[in-house]
Amino acid sequence: MGHVIASVRPLDLRLPSPLVELRDDRITGAGLRLLLKRDDLISPDIPGNKWRKLKYNLEAAKKQGYRALLTFGGAYSSHIRATAAAGYYFGFATVGVIRGEEHLPLNPSLDYAVRHGMRLAYLNRTAYREKMSPDVIAMLHRRFGEFYLLPEGGSNADALRGCAEIPGEIDRPFDLACCPCGTGGTLAGLAQGLGPGQRALGFSVLKGGAFLIREVAALQRDAFGAASGNWSIEHGFHFGGFARRNAELDEFTADFGKRHGHSLDWVYVAKMMYGIFALAGRGFFPAGTTIAAVITGFDHGPGLDLD
Ligand SMILES: Cc1ncc(COP(=O)(O)O)c(C=O)c1O
Repeated sequence: MGHVIASVRPLDLRLPSPLVELRDDRITGAGLRLLLKRDDLISPDIPGNKWRKLKYNLEAAKKQGYRALLTFGGAYSSHIRATAAAGYYFGFATVGVIRGEEHLPLNPSLDYAVRHGMRLAYLNRTAYREKMSPDVIAMLHRRFGEFYLLPEGGSNADALRGCAEIPGEIDRPFDLACCPCGTGGTLAGLAQGLGPGQRALGFSVLKGGAFLIREVAALQRDAFGAASGNWSIEHGFHFGGFARRNAELDEFTADFGKRHGHSLDWVYVAKMMYGIFALAGRGFFPAGTTIAAVITGFDHGPGLDLD
C-alpha cells in the first residue's frame, strides 16, 4: 500500500522498500538465507520504522481535523526528528517536548527539527517522567493549544498497523522476521502481519528489557484485540544497554561495512545483526531457514539517534 494522505511538499517515499539478499558465507555456511528488508531506504527524512509508525497516525490526525502534532523524546531522538519532518511534509505544526534542559547550539537532530518548523519545549527529568499524566498534558494544551498526541517512540495502535504492513511487502518466502526492539512497537506490528507458520524474533537493545515481553503483548492486545503468540525476544545482545557499545560490536559493524558496503545504525540495527550472526554461528536456526531482517533505520553517526 502506498501513502494514505497526500504530502503538501514533494516527498519521495521509496515504497515498497527494497528487499535484497545478503550473501555472506557465515550465513550460507549455516544453511540459512538472509534477506534484508531495507526500510532504512524509505526516506532520508522519515526513514524505517519512523514512516511505518507515523503513516496511519498522520492519516488519523488529518481525518480528525488536527493541525498540530505533539510528541516527546530525548535530545537525540530520531522519533522527534521524523515527527518534525512529517509535519513539514504533511502540513502539520509540530511540537517536540524534550527531556532535560536546553543545550545551545542545538545538536544536529534538534537543529533539523527546528529547521523543519518544530517548536521545542523542555521538561526537567521529574516532569518528563509524568509526561502522559493529565496534569502535564493539560499544561501542554494551555501552552500549545489543540494537538494530536503521539507517544514517546511513536508506538501506539496506529503505529502497529503500519508496522504490520512490512511482511506483506516481502515478496519472497521466508520463515522468520527479525527486528530490533526499543519500545517493542515494531516487533508487535511486524509479528501481527506475518502469515501462518512464520515467526518474528526481536533483539532487545535495552539492558533489563524483560518488561518488553509484557509490553509487546499489551501493545498487540490494545491494537488488535489479542497477543499473536508468534514472536519472541532475544535479550543477550544489548551490549551494555541502550546507546551503549563495545569494541566487539564496533568490530562487527566495521567488518560488516567492509564486506557489504552497508554502514549499520549502531544503536539498533547493528545489535540485531550481530545477534543474527551470533545465533547462526551457534546453530540456533534450523538449516533451511530463510530470515528476513528489517533494517529499521540508518547510521546517524556517533553519539546520535538515541530513541
Ligand atoms: C532505527 C530504529 N530501529 C528500531 C527501533 C525500535 O523500535 P521500537 O521502539 O518500535 O521497538 C527504533 C526506535 O524507535 C529505531 O530508531
